[in-house]
Amino acid sequence: MKTPLDAQKIRDDFPILQTRVYDKPLVYLDNAATTQKPRQVIDRVISYYYQNNSNAHRAKYFLAEKSSELYESARETVRKFIGAANSQEIIFTSGTTASINLVAQSLRKFYFKKDDEIIITEMEHHSNLVPWQMVCKDVGASLKVIPFDDEGVLRIKSLESMFTEKTRLIAVTHVSNVTGVINPVKEIIVRAHAYNIPVLLDGAQSISHLPIDVEILDCDFFVFSGHKMYAETGTGVLYGKQKWLEQMFPVQYGGGMVLSVDFDNTTFADLPFRFEAGTQNIAGAISIAAAIDYMNDIGINAIHSHEKQLLQYAADALGDIDQVTLYAESATKSGLLSFNINNVSPFDVSMILDKMAIAVRSGTHCAQPVMKHLGIDGTVRVSFALYNTVEEVDVLVKGVRRAVQILQ
Ligand code: ALA
Repeated sequence: MKTPLDAQKIRDDFPILQTRVYDKPLVYLDNAATTQKPRQVIDRVISYYYQNNSNAHRAKYFLAEKSSELYESARETVRKFIGAANSQEIIFTSGTTASINLVAQSLRKFYFKKDDEIIITEMEHHSNLVPWQMVCKDVGASLKVIPFDDEGVLRIKSLESMFTEKTRLIAVTHVSNVTGVINPVKEIIVRAHAYNIPVLLDGAQSISHLPIDVEILDCDFFVFSGHKMYAETGTGVLYGKQKWLEQMFPVQYGGGMVLSVDFDNTTFADLPFRFEAGTQNIAGAISIAAAIDYMNDIGINAIHSHEKQLLQYAADALGDIDQVTLYAESATKSGLLSFNINNVSPFDVSMILDKMAIAVRSGTHCAQPVMKHLGIDGTVRVSFALYNTVEEVDVLVKGVRRAVQILQ
């Protein structure tokens, strides 16, 4: 099978992919948890620490100015990558979870009140569930949940009947981290905006797999992590429409986010700095920019097609194994699938696969309500990135067949 990418050549950019595990070549298929990092990203971070390290937006000497420039240039790279109108709408955070918590805690201070309603979906990662649940508990609001059907597809027909004059926000994942289902987020946004309801999109599982344009989507907030897009851990982004960010209160206070301070009062800096208290992860932001440059060189559409082809190939081959149940098989999906070997613990499957040097995630994937809906304790999850190959899928399928023999 030929895909739009030369994955074999791309693999040379990722030193870790040469690793041997139990004296076998590593087959890394846990990219939804975190992606590996190319030399181009690692080198940019090393070069920053070798040649530029200093604080940003603090001092006026040569290295400090250079750090500020690199940090702001990273912001601009992110802005372009997601199609935001201006770089004031891009806030660096420590990841998707921090971005969602920032929005939730900030809106709690001035926007949510008693009896309000927040809508999420049944397929949210805990990161896009617990922060809203806690806000609801704090202010006396309630959480409403859009269910998904047996194909893993959101029942958005029910959406309009869920709206009331108390609906204050919809928070929805762009792509499910359990099934890979791509949600009809544009349709959700159009419907929500007809009632003036803002929408937050969790882009953790879409940012490195699908083309993103926040202006076309017209979402109010879009959040993602750097480490799932070939950049460093502990990095992430909150995109927010300026009209929202301007109203929002900071939730962390300290250096770098103020204009003036005395013992009676403090005024806050302009966007985006008022949300970036303390010394930021400057090298991390630079790593996100390097990762974006890397993906842009390859092309996000080519990445998407490559991963889709691997997904289809894997789903067909695993679907041929009688003892395997695939989840959300017929839905529109990104390069990720979940399965179980019937009546076998997903942990046992992943341990056998590990012995064959195949890295997959097993368990509830931080989405316990999804497991409850499916009536299972967990799944085995396979998630692709731009460096995965058809040959690796063959190794996986062989491994699953072996696991069936051993465990059933
Ligand atoms: N959120 C990451 C995952 O789904 C860790 O695996």
